[in-house]
Amino acid sequence: MTNKIEIKEKVKNFKKIIKVGSDKSISIRCVLLASQAIGKSRIYNLLESEDVFDALKAIKKLGIKFKKRKNFYEIEGFGLDGYNTKKKITIDAGNSGTLARLILGLLVNSKNVVTLKGDKSLSKRDFSRVVEPLKLFGANISYKNSFLPVHINGSNYLRPIKYHENLGSAQCKSAIMLASLKTPGITKIKAKKSRDHTELLFKNLGIPIKIIKKKIYDFIDIKGPFNFEGFDYKVPGDISSSSFFIVLTLLSQNSSLIIKNVNINKTRTGIIKILNKMNANISFKNKKKYKGEFLGDISVKSKKNLKSIICPKKLNSSAIDEFLIIFLVAAKAKGNSVFRDLGELNKKESPRLNIAIKILRQIGVKILRNKNDIKIFGNPKLELTGSYTIKNFRKDHRVLMMSCVAALTLGGCWTIHDSNSSNTSFPDFFKKIKKLGGVIN
Ligand code: S3P
Repeated sequence: MTNKIEIKEKVKNFKKIIKVGSDKSISIRCVLLASQAIGKSRIYNLLESEDVFDALKAIKKLGIKFKKRKNFYEIEGFGLDGYNTKKKITIDAGNSGTLARLILGLLVNSKNVVTLKGDKSLSKRDFSRVVEPLKLFGANISYKNSFLPVHINGSNYLRPIKYHENLGSAQCKSAIMLASLKTPGITKIKAKKSRDHTELLFKNLGIPIKIIKKKIYDFIDIKGPFNFEGFDYKVPGDISSSSFFIVLTLLSQNSSLIIKNVNINKTRTGIIKILNKMNANISFKNKKKYKGEFLGDISVKSKKNLKSIICPKKLNSSAIDEFLIIFLVAAKAKGNSVFRDLGELNKKESPRLNIAIKILRQIGVKILRNKNDIKIFGNPKLELTGSYTIKNFRKDHRVLMMSCVAALTLGGCWTIHDSNSSNTSFPDFFKKIKKLGGVIN
């Protein structure tokens, strides 16, 4: 089944207020931390997407019970030693890199072998970035050529580590942080800056954590072991899911949009900085703080005179999941935009840098590439009239959603395959597109 869709017309002007799905990174972290707490946690607004359901299935395999109540998920943990790993088990992380990498951190004290597997896309992604540091804690881990399946057999004699995380990967940093929770002594991490939701959750849970923030690196000390109690958390909207609607608005005519209650943590809002440097004029309203995170409503209007950008590398990490959609804006902006050092993009659910270049070239956008740097030749007059088929993108949710936004703003007749790919992060994507007047067949 390919579940193809067709988009044959541009979205008309709209003026709307919407909500998007809840933050995926925070949802998965809440499920995993609640599964290790002592007692019941209540997670409100948990994202109900495939990646998060896979997280719930994973903790269930580990003997943790959860219930869906009217407004929240209730998860009951039994502390850091509370997973039932007496038997050999297999966990399927599906498409989710975050789930797979973070849960490995929590399995460093498993009592038996746990096998971790994933879907086709996840089975092509690098696991050495988490397996190698986790081995240093004393866990026994085996895998082939850095790929899933990974077999982990924990240790009773964990020792704290010193680790230099140099990829700017929040998944890698978080896996080490979660392992340090179970490990006697002080684990020291020097981590290139990346999203900091795990740090903020640790602080909220009273876990002994010290962070010194420098320009490029954060220095994080965690003292384990530390058992914490069940907690309540209300998950805000996802900036990454919002990004498709921000650009849909920006590139359509006479439209405006408010997206309510989104997480606008500065480790995640690189896209806003980048688009505003391109003349976009996106603003945050009703800002408030919640458990260390910053939330707000995002306000965006259509914009005609977008300009190119030489994108500062320091924004790469805080916009890492949004480059596909940012490239689309660059294609419609005046002038030539440059993005550098985007090797990590090719390590996502699909080789996104390669796929973005392929799709943009397919619709006539000129791009020069030098290894992991690209130059996009923008054209404000870009309007499409041809037929375009988008397929073979490893069911990458963000490639799917970017293609839909391209179709709805640039014109042409588009056939887009694997339309259910958005279910991993944003099952309501098409419902929201229709709410704004987009016609999908
Ligand atoms: C995530 C971290 C990022 C991001 C992913 C979610 C997280 O990956 O791309 O979608 O929740 O920690 P990396 O840590 O590999 O950069």
